[in-house]
Amino acid sequence: MPEISVKVLFCLLLAVHLGSSQKAIISEISQKQIKEIGESTHLNCTVKTEGSYKVSWNKKKLERTSDSFPISIDDQLTINDPRFKIVYDQNSSTYSLQIKNIESSDTGIYECQVFISFEERPSSSVELFVRHPPIISEKLSTKVVQVSEHQPVNLECFADGYPRPTITWTREYNALMPGGGHKITGNILKLQAARREDRGTYYCLAENDVGKSAPKTVTLEVEFAPVISIPRPKVAQALDYNIELQCRVEAYPPPSIVWLRHGQQLLSSEEYKISNLATVDQVTTSSLMIRGLEKDQYGDYFCQARNSKGQAESRIHVFESVLPVLELV
Ligand SMILES: *[C@@H]1O[C@H](CO)[C@@H](O)[C@H](O)[C@H]1NC(C)=O
Ligand SMILES: *[C@@H]1O[C@H](CO)[C@@H](O)[C@H](O)[C@H]1NC(C)=O
Repeated sequence: MPEISVKVLFCLLLAVHLGSSQKAIISEISQKQIKEIGESTHLNCTVKTEGSYKVSWNKKKLERTSDSFPISIDDQLTINDPRFKIVYDQNSSTYSLQIKNIESSDTGIYECQVFISFEERPSSSVELFVRHPPIISEKLSTKVVQVSEHQPVNLECFADGYPRPTITWTREYNALMPGGGHKITGNILKLQAARREDRGTYYCLAENDVGKSAPKTVTLEVEFAPVISIPRPKVAQALDYNIELQCRVEAYPPPSIVWLRHGQQLLSSEEYKISNLATVDQVTTSSLMIRGLEKDQYGDYFCQARNSKGQAESRIHVFESVLPVLELV
């Protein structure tokens, strides 16, 4: 008795299994569709079933096929969009999903699925591509990126569009070189080891045969410790005359610059006038003016520059001349 029931159960299971795999098949589905914005399409799904099962059209995004959302179940739409219509033709057993006035967001994978059970849901898909000009993704693309000098860095630009856009990079150096620049193609601009002169503005542009995106600005900041150069490390002046010391600092982020004498910071006063002038990109010229040199003001002065990447210091020696040096104002 128990033996028989096991056999019966087995046969039943086998029958259910064999039977169910033939219960429903999708015999035909439309071919891939490529459409212009504003056009219409009918996506057809023909189902051969023995019995009545629910048939749905689901949509998936091309870039995230794991998420799918239903558009229709049987002959009912499950979304509220007047551009969509579902028509079931009983004679041919075809579920026709009709989309008119197509928008670029309709791009995706449309899946026709027969619901037999949770385990058994045969499906077939058709891709819909909507031709549209590229749009650069603000969210995915680089806006501003900081890198330490000599380190690698990537500038990334992602664009959506159909046909798949090509991405072009251009670089504007600075106002001194109008029209200067170079191009690199590819959606990721790789710098193996960033140099300080790589700092600046880059533009990425996406293009396909439908159109061009607006250019996207990507800013690269290359950080490096201050480097000081002293145009005149030894300067002479006669007693009671003015003298100006200059210190040229290259650094990014912009450095703080101080002047020191005998280890003490000098501040602007009646005797001293300190001025910092950012000349070109990344270069600051600091000058220390000493008004009416006194005997005890001859000797060494230090210019010290500091930023988050480090610091540097250089010396300027002031010595007495018999005749005033008039070129200095
Ligand atoms: C879907 O079927 C309709 C009616 O038979 C037909 O006009 C249309 O071209 C079909 N759509 C596709 C994409 O094949
Ligand atoms: C379905 O078939 C019947 C009979 O063959 C026909 O009268 C009817 O017009 C058909 N319907 C459609 C929508 O083709």
